[in-house]
Amino acid sequence: MQKRTFLSLSLGLALSACVSSIAMAQTTLRIFTGGQQRPDVMRKIADEYEKRTPGVKIEVEVGGATSEQQQQYLNTVLASKDGALDVILIDVIRPAQYSAAQWAEPLDQFLGADKDKVMARYLPAYREANIVGGKVIALPYFADAQFLYYRKDLLEKHGVQPPKTWAELQAASQKIQAAEGNPNLSGFQTAGAPIEGTVCTYLVPMWGAGGNLTDASGKLALNTAEAKRPFELWASMKAANVTPPNLAEIPTDRIRQNFQAGNLLFAMNWGYVWQRTQGDADSQVKDKVGVVPLPGFTADKAATCVGGWQLTVSSFSKNKKAAFDFAMYLSSPEVAKMQAIAASHLPVFPEVYNDPEVLKANPWFAQALPVVQTARSRPVTPAYPRVSEIIRTNMNAFLAGSKTADAALADMSRDLATVIR
Ligand code: GLC
Repeated sequence: MQKRTFLSLSLGLALSACVSSIAMAQTTLRIFTGGQQRPDVMRKIADEYEKRTPGVKIEVEVGGATSEQQQQYLNTVLASKDGALDVILIDVIRPAQYSAAQWAEPLDQFLGADKDKVMARYLPAYREANIVGGKVIALPYFADAQFLYYRKDLLEKHGVQPPKTWAELQAASQKIQAAEGNPNLSGFQTAGAPIEGTVCTYLVPMWGAGGNLTDASGKLALNTAEAKRPFELWASMKAANVTPPNLAEIPTDRIRQNFQAGNLLFAMNWGYVWQRTQGDADSQVKDKVGVVPLPGFTADKAATCVGGWQLTVSSFSKNKKAAFDFAMYLSSPEVAKMQAIAASHLPVFPEVYNDPEVLKANPWFAQALPVVQTARSRPVTPAYPRVSEIIRTNMNAFLAGSKTADAALADMSRDLATVIR
């Protein structure tokens, strides 16, 4: 009898240990991020999430130096319906493509009755970018836009104000470059390599000149004076030696490196650059950097691209609910603040811009919110990869000197007409 009690007792204990180990079973979630989106900061945020969420382990996978390289890799993974990734960080230009390809699990089912309330917290551009055909395709992780970075110390030394127009920028650059007499000091750089960022090297001055890719009826219309302005602007900067002869080889992060090494006066670049210039051990420009809105052709009319990164739950994930919960954490004001301080990632929540600790780390955020709010979207279409390729390769060919402005614009117009009607 006694023996039986003991037996059933130990059986019961073993059983309950087994049950609790099932309850404690590890769920491993794998998130994909790009090299420029600060995987180190993502890792710290994931550590915090693991602490709060017993039983969940996060693996961070990093790939691709630029937006289109990241997507090339993801195309292969997702086209084969590979379930290895649970959460994927995607560029703001991609939700329409992910929705059409059915790579992103619509999140409405998890958001349930809270959907409108949750989406209402975000800046409108990010709310809109992530809802496709009425469905929530992704949740915003951080906002972005292009700004003008400048060497505060050198502008002050030469009595020059931060430029509000491209003409002022060119004149300021020529003056300071001549006075400094340093052959390594480049005047201005924007992305010129055939990468995603170069789409904005075309669109920003075109929009700033008052132009649009399409006319009032939504038809592609590049036979305008405004559509030529970017070519004229970059040709003028090149002739004045303000941009370097190899601009066509320069991708986004190289500009950051050149600026950080002290070899560049003005840079058109995204939000992440600030923290790197202030926080990296090798930075030569700590406390010597200013950030202002981009110049325009006239002081009152500047433009910038909406940028930023979003969190999708992969349609092929085997842990969609757990993946969604993690994405919700990443897409919270608390994490927006952590990212703003650690990586100068612009928040998707308007109130985080006014947080004293955020402003202490990023004094220029005080002027950044209106820039993000008025930034313009690159074309929203599932065919965006093709649109991007057409614009960036033609802009690049012009900058490389292998196409004239007229030829680049004519090719752009002809090819875009097959995707944007
Ligand atoms: C930044 C932006 C992104 C953009 C990319 C281009 O990462 O956030 O939207 O497409 O730069 O280089």
